[in-house]
Amino acid sequence: MCGIVGYVGKQKASSIILEGLKRVEYRGYDSAGLAVLEKGAFTVLKKTGRVDNLVKLVAPRKFHATTGIGHTRWATHGGVTDANAHPHLSSDGKFAIIHNGVIENYVGMKQFLAGKGYTFQSETDTEALVNLIAYHFAKEPANGDRSRFLESVRKALLHVEGTYGIAVLCTECPDEIVGARKGSPLILGVGDGENILASDVSALVSRTQNVVYLKDGEVVHLTEKSFSLSTIQEQEEITPKIDRVSWKVEDAELGTFAHFMEKEIFEQPAALENTMRGRFSADASTAIFGGLNLTAGDLRQIDRLVFCACGTAWHACLVAEQLIERYARIPVEVEYASEFRYRNAPLDKNTLVFVVTQSGETLDTLEALREAKRKGYTVLAIVNVVGSTIARESDGGIYQHAGPEIGVASTKAFTSQLVVGAMLALYLGRLRDMSYSDGVEYVKALKQVPELIKAVLTQAPHIKAIAKRFSHHRDFLFLGRQSMFPIALEGALKLKEISYIHAEGYPAAEMKHGPIALISPDCPTVFFAPAGEMFPKLVSSIQEIKARKGQAIVITTTGAEFPPGLADERIDLPPCHEAILPILATIPVQLLSYYIAAELGRDVDKPRNLAKSVTVE
Ligand code: F6R
Repeated sequence: MCGIVGYVGKQKASSIILEGLKRVEYRGYDSAGLAVLEKGAFTVLKKTGRVDNLVKLVAPRKFHATTGIGHTRWATHGGVTDANAHPHLSSDGKFAIIHNGVIENYVGMKQFLAGKGYTFQSETDTEALVNLIAYHFAKEPANGDRSRFLESVRKALLHVEGTYGIAVLCTECPDEIVGARKGSPLILGVGDGENILASDVSALVSRTQNVVYLKDGEVVHLTEKSFSLSTIQEQEEITPKIDRVSWKVEDAELGTFAHFMEKEIFEQPAALENTMRGRFSADASTAIFGGLNLTAGDLRQIDRLVFCACGTAWHACLVAEQLIERYARIPVEVEYASEFRYRNAPLDKNTLVFVVTQSGETLDTLEALREAKRKGYTVLAIVNVVGSTIARESDGGIYQHAGPEIGVASTKAFTSQLVVGAMLALYLGRLRDMSYSDGVEYVKALKQVPELIKAVLTQAPHIKAIAKRFSHHRDFLFLGRQSMFPIALEGALKLKEISYIHAEGYPAAEMKHGPIALISPDCPTVFFAPAGEMFPKLVSSIQEIKARKGQAIVITTTGAEFPPGLADERIDLPPCHEAILPILATIPVQLLSYYIAAELGRDVDKPRNLAKSVTVE
């Protein structure tokens, strides 16, 4: 949460920062601001609302500064006001800071600093830190050495409890930025005669593809031509590892689509093709994963899997649980990462832990990983963002390769997690009792996924018409059984997060144990009723809905027959292998939610109160 951009180089810093902020705006959009350093003084502009509001403030100004920092905020401490927007200045005017994270001991810090004469303009925790830096700077001997700025930041950070990704400017060191991280992402873009700091690769790929991922506890000092990396605690110099990012600027651009969510829904055939590319065995009977760092022998010793994740990724784990238990016969537990960390669940010796995350930065998931590792368990990650903290801290894992996901509501990352889960079930199944011919059939099914998704996507106009018909309702139920239950949860989550309509996902057979009380003409049900052995029971449940004057939007299989009038609306899926059914069934509920939200004029890509990548607890 919160987007950070810092620039030092020869170009106009304000333009580069604004472009970067637009690209990281999905990390938080309560307010945006920038500070540029010119002729020994800061100009700070900040405004509540979107980056566009900031652009309007900057437009009439003639900035020539070549050093600056900018921020998009997802509010934690202090309301959404101009005063609380970042950057914040120290009260002596010498420092400007942008911060992503939470400083837990800021109250004590503020009291200490107030006693030393420092004053505060905002309600934020961040302002305490920038003043603490100023305090240490004032205490450092002025020896003309560049390191005075760096040392002041480092000393201040030694007193911080909490999390931070920061970038700091100092009026006395006009062509320098100091950045540091603990618990919040920070990436250095190494450019040609310029260096950039950002919370997210997307903010810097237009300038460079050479990056250094800072680790927790590291501080970086940059000028236009050089940078140095060291540890905050021990002050040890670190030799940086420069990675090359494969993303291109176009990957994160909207093209002809109205919203990133729409683009990402329609991108799924290609994204899932990328997820699977090169990951089937030569005899096409199993999956292969290069990065598990465990041998087949190691994996045969495993007798339990624990999956930890949050939100949409947690739903993907529920599907993986069903497939792995069915095809590999290994018991699986799925935990909310936020609960796992504090639950102190007893784990057996031969347990393997998976964390699943699009961003690779979700703090709850990261802390679950750390907790499991602390207890000595091997932790593998299923993650989309290459080089993210979770990717780097795990013992191995599987990259999703779904490409950048910009829409706050996860779509293609979710289906690519479903694909990875299905491939994992196949791989583990083939290490145990799944036969060669069953493996071949399974692989054939997975390879069909992109084409079958394309076929489901052709129903977009029909789903749009359904969305129009039902968009005025304020409550929805999503019901499904077996592997359709997690998709019901996901459908309900998608609808509520982008349209602000109340929606609940439930196992279809549980309806009669309570939620049936909600059924009325005003509360439509999205009902997953694919062909298969459960079909007659599913039809009975829909009949119970109709008997209570409920309306049913039924997602089913082409050719499935219902009694006349049972389905108010019907969306067909092509017949398919059961391992890929959850992937195909996701597409209609993504489209339905998207079109309802668009019909209601919601801000689809940046729904209220949310942010992509939740890096606070
Ligand atoms: C919902 C959504 C969130 C995320 C959750 C975990 O559409 O995007 O529920 O799935 O915050 O995020 P990651 O996968 O980045 O760990």
